[in-house]
Amino acid sequence: MSSKRPETFIEFVEGKPNLKYFFTGGKGGVGKTIAAAGIAYYFASQGKKTLLASLNPIHSLASVCTQEFGCGEVEKVSGIGKLYALECDITETVKRYRDQLAEKLRWFLKWADIPVKSEDFVDIAATNPSFEESAMFDNVIDIILEQRGAYDIIVFDCAAVANAIRLLGLSKIYDLWLSRMVKSREEALSLRVKLSFRKEKVMEEIKKDPMMADLINMRRRMEEVKPFFVNPETTAFFFVTLPLALPIAVVKRFIEMVKAFDIPVGGVFVNMVLTEEIMKKEKSEYMTNKYKEQEGYLATIRKDLWPSVRAFIPLYSTEVLGFDMIAKVSESIVNWKPS
Ligand SMILES: Nc1ncnc2c1ncn2[C@@H]1O[C@H](COP(=O)(O)OP(=O)(O)OP(=O)(O)O)[C@@H](O)[C@H]1O
Ligand SMILES: [Mg+2]
Repeated sequence: MSSKRPETFIEFVEGKPNLKYFFTGGKGGVGKTIAAAGIAYYFASQGKKTLLASLNPIHSLASVCTQEFGCGEVEKVSGIGKLYALECDITETVKRYRDQLAEKLRWFLKWADIPVKSEDFVDIAATNPSFEESAMFDNVIDIILEQRGAYDIIVFDCAAVANAIRLLGLSKIYDLWLSRMVKSREEALSLRVKLSFRKEKVMEEIKKDPMMADLINMRRRMEEVKPFFVNPETTAFFFVTLPLALPIAVVKRFIEMVKAFDIPVGGVFVNMVLTEEIMKKEKSEYMTNKYKEQEGYLATIRKDLWPSVRAFIPLYSTEVLGFDMIAKVSESIVNWKPS
């Protein structure tokens, strides 16, 4: 068991006054959305202008906030000080990506005199799961670059952990990939210039090359945004787990992955914890067994994750719906004291 006392969420954020970008990740259904909303609620209640940005394929903020949000538009959360929400529709972005890709591929195949139908390539590319992640990541970049000036705090609620980690990890991979792509594109273009008898025409084409322009633009965006992802003073990635074997194992694995990508780990929230207060009211055999089972998993958490734990969130008797409940989540996060 690690004897080191964990730094609580509030100690952690007070120790880092420049924190601005928060991410929540974890296995599906563990409470990423409610944790993100709880963090956002806390900062908004401190008078900070806060944006809660959801990057889920399924609209999840609307259900938590019990308020409908228009897709891709920042909206004020009614009744909560300076809290704003943005629900990005990944499906829309993926469709836009697909259309753009199709257009570029058509252009490229024509340019390279390759007599193949571009649609087949587009289908292969678009069914790859990384296509969706890439679209999601592009949305994160957009939000950081476009909204950062307007908010003190931006909390990102990301989809399932694999996506979230990979999409953050992509910042490193993207960079390598883009450098290679730009280089090989330059080589291909200059070869074409060398081979061509109508040099001026090809030079003109190079200037118009939409793929090259895109790659350069993407790299510029990456370069601009990368410092935010790896800066532990501005950025923190929080993991949510349950006191259960699988989510704990997932969090352990992903903390290692995140560190390998130089992404700053903010810490871990343990959600749906059965507290002594709950158990005073609960006498059923089922709940008593659950409580005993939880003790074992909490021991694992103390052994493997303890100094990184920032808060426990209790199991509520109902789903977390609406901002009265989010306020409770926020209080639990903020008031947690390690025992
Ligand atoms: N502490 C809690 N007590 C009671 N219900 C909870 C608690 N935490 C989360 N829930 C409920 O569990 C469900 C999942 O929570 P949430 O949507 O935050 O998880 P998620 O990790 O964002 O899920 P997904 O992977 O689908 O995005 C929701 O219905 C939420 O209201
Ligand atoms: Mg969610």
